[in-house]
Amino acid sequence: MRNDIERVLIDEAVIEKRLDAMAGAIERDFPQGTLVVIILLKGALVFAADLLRRIARPIEIECLNVASYHGGTQSSGTVDFLDRQFPEVRGRHVLLLDDILDTGRTLHAVIARLHAEGAAAVHTGVLLAKDKARAAAVSADYVGFEIGDEFVVGYGLDYLGKYRNLPYVGVLKAAVVGAGEAGA
Ligand code: XMP
Repeated sequence: MRNDIERVLIDEAVIEKRLDAMAGAIERDFPQGTLVVIILLKGALVFAADLLRRIARPIEIECLNVASYHGGTQSSGTVDFLDRQFPEVRGRHVLLLDDILDTGRTLHAVIARLHAEGAAAVHTGVLLAKDKARAAAVSADYVGFEIGDEFVVGYGLDYLGKYRNLPYVGVLKAAVVGAGEAGA
């Protein structure tokens, strides 16, 4: 896998330090009591696991399966909810975690759904936010790192299902992306 990476954008030590700060900010900002966290699968799994273990609070974890990429490097433009049942969020303060804020369509759609399901408040945290104009008007309350508008993998983010377990965020070699797109 390492051979497929053109360059490491954010290494493990830098991510860990940033997660310490994010966890501290979340603990300070959220009202006392149990924190309800919704993790967007599969991309936010690694980020959420490392972030939540830094928060010394009772936490209820829910996961949501949404799809917006369908495999490649371009967002499909639609957000599909894949679960048969939606988590019970009525009257709860929710922290929604995703791996990356790109066009904004995913967070926008999930936030709207959480409000429609009666959540009392929705806060959002992302590991990465691409520095670009969003297709949907949304911002995240907690952002790990701002990055340029390029496709990245690792630390939960995949390309065609691979690279999620890389311990850093990196950029794939053009030849790897080219070969994948040709085979898709
Ligand atoms: P939107 O465009 O809805 O995108 O903000 C959010 C979802 O799209 C995926 N995404 C990426 N996945 N590398 C990836 O591996 C990327 O650079 C990238 N940009 C967006 C991701 O699943 C995210 O939740």
